[in-house]
Amino acid sequence: MAAQLNRMDLNRLIADQFEAYLANNRLLGKPATLYDPINYLLGFGGKRIRPQFLILSHSLFSKDISLALPAALALEWFHNFTLAHDDIMDQATLRRGQAAVHMQYSVNAAILSGDVLMIKVYQHLLDHYTGEQALALLRLMTQAAVEVCEGQQLDMDFETKSDINESEYLQMIHGKTASLIAAALEMGAVTGGALQEQSNQIYQFGISAGVAFQIQDDLLDAFGTEQEIGKKPGGDILQNKKTLLFIKAHELATEHDRLLLNRLYADPQLIDPFEKIRQVREIFERTGSREYSTNMLDQLYADAKQNLIFADVDQVALDAIWQMTDKLLHRKH
Ligand code: IPE
Ligand code: IPE
Ligand code: MG
Ligand code: MG
Ligand code: MG
Repeated sequence: MAAQLNRMDLNRLIADQFEAYLANNRLLGKPATLYDPINYLLGFGGKRIRPQFLILSHSLFSKDISLALPAALALEWFHNFTLAHDDIMDQATLRRGQAAVHMQYSVNAAILSGDVLMIKVYQHLLDHYTGEQALALLRLMTQAAVEVCEGQQLDMDFETKSDINESEYLQMIHGKTASLIAAALEMGAVTGGALQEQSNQIYQFGISAGVAFQIQDDLLDAFGTEQEIGKKPGGDILQNKKTLLFIKAHELATEHDRLLLNRLYADPQLIDPFEKIRQVREIFERTGSREYSTNMLDQLYADAKQNLIFADVDQVALDAIWQMTDKLLHRKH
């Protein structure tokens, strides 16, 4: 079917089928107090890039989208579980333009609903796949889950460290973000029946694209508006996150700016939060660290492209992966 569609039709078809599948597989167990927060969070959409990547990757090798839907939903559930917990850890109050789960319900509800959602990921994969394919999907999901936790812990450890370098930052975002995006793409290759070599290649593409995606997320957190990103801008600055923006600003700053930056990050009580965000943004601009981050993003995108050249696959799906990545890395939300 995919071969007769153009890129936009294919994207729309996948998005529609995924939303329908998600709606048909809502988690309606009891007690409602456990499942309501999950449906609350999933109900606000999000960009759904991981399921879209998974199904597009599947479509490179197979025309039957339905085979990829359970894996795509499991992966989107996993992503939403990470968001529910991430917002507690980051003390974020807004998610997708709405109250974060722990604000709307409670911290305990966000913890346990997140936990059950993560377990449902495994149940759904076990219920819908068998044999070697099930094993391959479970292995990929499990490896990515471990890496997300490792990256997330580094992200938090770095909040209280001032000497984080670029390569430590890249390792951290590789874990917390890129590993799941890469797993999405490789899981699609598995459901689509790709060769191992093709799976590896698409995984590598996912890592480069995923790292670039997190750099863009960091840029948007610093410079986007609440309306654009659906989160409180400046959250990373208030949490003293060691983003590439911070690391490079620190490195490139004049002595005066470096001292100022250190002072702004030193004492949370010292300065009004809005003032901290305003001043740090200015330092990110005038040190050239914003520009550096944007350039690195473009470089990673160029690297990612090197890993996405396939001959014997559906070229409409391939083109759709290109376009989607391009849009994501230049997005404003
Ligand atoms: C947010 O992911 C968490 C990161 C890894 C940056 P998304 O930006 O994909 O969030 P939604 O699902 O579209 O809301
Ligand atoms: C996302 O990192 C990583 C995970 C959710 C595991 P962020 O903390 O930057 O994500 P946002 O900005 O809150 O969406
Ligand atoms: Mg976080
Ligand atoms: Mg966060
Ligand atoms: Mg962020």
